[in-house]
Amino acid sequence: MNTIVIKISDGDNLDEKILPAAEAIKSGKLVVFPTETVYGLGGNGLNSSASKKIYEAKGRPQDNPLIIHIANPEDAKKYTYTNSLYDKLAEHFMPGPLTVVLPAKECIPKETRASLPTVAVRCPEHPIAHKLIALTGTPIAAPSANLSGSPSPTKASHVLDDMMGRVDVIIAADDSKIGLESTIVKIEDEETVTLLRPGKITIEDLSLVCDKIIVAGAVTSKLAEGEKVLSPGMKYRHYAPKAPVILLDGSHKKIADFIAENSKDKSISVICYKERIDDIKAKAPNAYVYEFGSEGDDEMQAHLLFDILRDADKRNFDVIYAPLPRAEGIGLALYNRMIRAAAYNIIKL
Ligand code: TXA
Ligand code: MG
Repeated sequence: MNTIVIKISDGDNLDEKILPAAEAIKSGKLVVFPTETVYGLGGNGLNSSASKKIYEAKGRPQDNPLIIHIANPEDAKKYTYTNSLYDKLAEHFMPGPLTVVLPAKECIPKETRASLPTVAVRCPEHPIAHKLIALTGTPIAAPSANLSGSPSPTKASHVLDDMMGRVDVIIAADDSKIGLESTIVKIEDEETVTLLRPGKITIEDLSLVCDKIIVAGAVTSKLAEGEKVLSPGMKYRHYAPKAPVILLDGSHKKIADFIAENSKDKSISVICYKERIDDIKAKAPNAYVYEFGSEGDDEMQAHLLFDILRDADKRNFDVIYAPLPRAEGIGLALYNRMIRAAAYNIIKL
């Protein structure tokens, strides 16, 4: 397939640049577009054959449903049955990095929602995403624009690597501001949500609006054999680079000593807080070190993580060591992505 790349630079007339991409979506084609979380791989969410094409382009199992992206929070009412809690969530967090799972109306094809009775809805804040959906006049179904199994793309170069020749149009723009996928909640009743995937909107943020927040088990641990999965995406391995990732849980000294001890005669990589780099380089001079932002700066860590994992994938390391993040605030989202990247391999020091 011939892929048209639309490169966006500062000062471009967005309407003019994005119109061909909107026309492509309207005619059932696929368009990769930037959002504030990660890049998305979009098609007309009301068109079952466009949804089928999305699964094919990603190599994604058909039982893993898609998020529909809308231009305005009120548009959710056209496609789902909302309630007063949805209105409150929308008022506080939309447009933005929050996805809400609601009972679907009939107009959403079963291919888009993988035959579930619900559908996930998100109203992105990124001006290009917003403009594309508004110009298209239809909800855009979009998973993250990576090949199934690799980290979500947070840079134009990532989508060019994964999607050239697989989609009709790629809008190549700025790096994703947030760098981790949206927070996903399922609305249970007028006051309760279940957190299905943590993200930039934290449990603390949600508690401003929701009286009760249930955290799905798969957010922080491996699904038990036969356990019922609340969000189909959680059962897939996800985000894992080729080299094994090992998360280290302990004091800085213990982590540095462990790495020193386990770096000999191996090609190793260390994902390392900025303040610890000198120490690691002194103790394990052969390590390839990725700077992971300052220790307390979980927003920066979120922004960097997927780019680091993608880069590490190209370098054939024997092993990648990383610190186990604190599972609090945005750290919970990092924890959730990193335990998956590590296939739950955590060493307590
Ligand atoms: O930030 C994001 O959410 C990005 C951008 C492009 O918007 N999208 C994204 O989509 O991460 P995707 O498909 O990679 O992840 C969506 C997750 C999947 O794990 C899927 O199983 C879950 O949402 N999901 C979708 N519809 C659902 C539903 N009806 N019930 C439960 N989980 C659902
Ligand atoms: Mg994804």
